Amino acid sequence: MKLNAKLDRLGTETAFAVSAQAKAWADKGNKVYPFHLGDINLQTPSNIREATNRYMNDAKNGYCAPEGIPELRLALAHDVGSKRGVEYGLENVVIQPGGKPTIWKFLATVMNEGDEALYPNPGYPIYESQIGYQGGIPVPYSYNETDTGFEIDMEKLRNSITDKTTILIYNNYQNPMSASSSLEEMQSLAALATEHDLWVLSDDAYFEIRYTDRSPRSIVSIPGMKERTVILYTFSKKFAMTGWRVGASIGPEKVIRHMARFNINDESCTNHFIQHALAEVIREDQSGSKRILSELKSRRDICFSGLNTINGVSLQLPESTFYLFPNVTDVMANKGYTDLDLFRTDALEATGVSFCSRHHFGSPLADEENHYIRFAYSSIEQEDIQEGMGKLKSWIED
Ligand SMILES: Cc1ncc(COP(=O)(O)O)c(C=O)c1O
Repeated sequence: MKLNAKLDRLGTETAFAVSAQAKAWADKGNKVYPFHLGDINLQTPSNIREATNRYMNDAKNGYCAPEGIPELRLALAHDVGSKRGVEYGLENVVIQPGGKPTIWKFLATVMNEGDEALYPNPGYPIYESQIGYQGGIPVPYSYNETDTGFEIDMEKLRNSITDKTTILIYNNYQNPMSASSSLEEMQSLAALATEHDLWVLSDDAYFEIRYTDRSPRSIVSIPGMKERTVILYTFSKKFAMTGWRVGASIGPEKVIRHMARFNINDESCTNHFIQHALAEVIREDQSGSKRILSELKSRRDICFSGLNTINGVSLQLPESTFYLFPNVTDVMANKGYTDLDLFRTDALEATGVSFCSRHHFGSPLADEENHYIRFAYSSIEQEDIQEGMGKLKSWIED
C-alpha cells in the first residue's frame, strides 16, 4: 500500500523537535531554561475565561456557522479595520481555529500548481511547507542586519520576481527576527505587489505585541492593498490563548468566501462558546492584554541585557514580538564551532539554556555568512531568564 507522494513536500515546525530535546534533557534531572518555543506561560485574561464559562453554561455547545458567529465576525471587522484604517464588514471575516490555518487555506484559495510564492526566510516555517505541499514553488526572500534591526533585501526580492510569481507572504512584525518594516519598506513591497498583481498574505500575528507607543502598521492600510490582501489574525499571542485555537482570516470577500468552504470541509466550525466570549471581549474590554504586554516587556529587557553583556553576541532591541535574534558569528568563531546545531545542543547540555537556531526557520540560503539563534522569552519567568543568561555567559566566555 502506497502513501501519498506529496507527503515528501510537507515540511514541519522543527522547533517542536527542540522542545523534545529540551524535555529529554530535563527528564534526566537537569534544569532547563526554555527559550525555544513561542508559547506563553501566562494566564489568559480573566474576563475571557469568565465569559467563556458563562457561554458554555448557556449551552453554546453545538455546531455553529462554519464561517464563525456573526457577532465575532462583525466585532473583528470593526476592530481590525479601525486599527488599520480600512473598512471591513461581516463578509470580509472568516473565523479560524487559530492563526495557522489561514496560511494553508489562503494558499489553497489563490495558488495554482507551479505558481511562485515569495516568503520570508528566515521566517515562520509553515509558509515554505504549505507552498511546496500544495504544488507551488517556494521562493525565499531574505533580510539584512542593520544598525537598528533587520530590513528586507529589496533588491534581491525584486530580482526574484518572474512572470510565474503570484503571491507575496509578508510577516510584519516578524518571527524569528522581530524585524519591523519602515514605512518606506512597506510601501516598496506594496508597489511591487501592485505592479506584479500579487496576492498578499499579511501575517499580523504580532501586530499588537508591541512595546512602544507608536501605532503598529499593516500593509493593508496602503491604498490598493486591501483588495489583494488577506490578514492572518490570531488571538493566540495578544491574549495568551495559544492553546485555545482561535483566529481569523480577513480580506476580500471573493477570497474569504472560498476559505470558508475549506472550513466546511475541514473542522466544520471553530469552538462555539469561545467565539461568543471573544465577541464580547473584542467589543467591550480588551484591557487584559495590557498585563501580558507589560510582563513580556520586562522579560524582553532582562533577556536583552543578559545577551548584550556576553562577549561576541550582537543584537538590537526590538520593539515588537517576543523574540530576540542575536548574531553569534563571533561567539561561534571564538569557541571553535562551525556547526550551529552542535553549538546549540552543546549549549543545552552545558548550561540547560534551550533555544532555536536560524535553521529552524527555513532552509539557510547559499550566501549566508552570519550565524543567528532565536530566544523566545514568552514562556520563561524573569528569574530564570536572568539565571539562564548568567549560565550562558559563563559557558560562552569560558
Ligand atoms: C508568524 C506566525 N504566524 C502564525 C503563527 C500561528 O499562530 P497560531 O498559534 O494562532 O496558530 C505563529 C505562531 O507562532 C507565528 O509566529
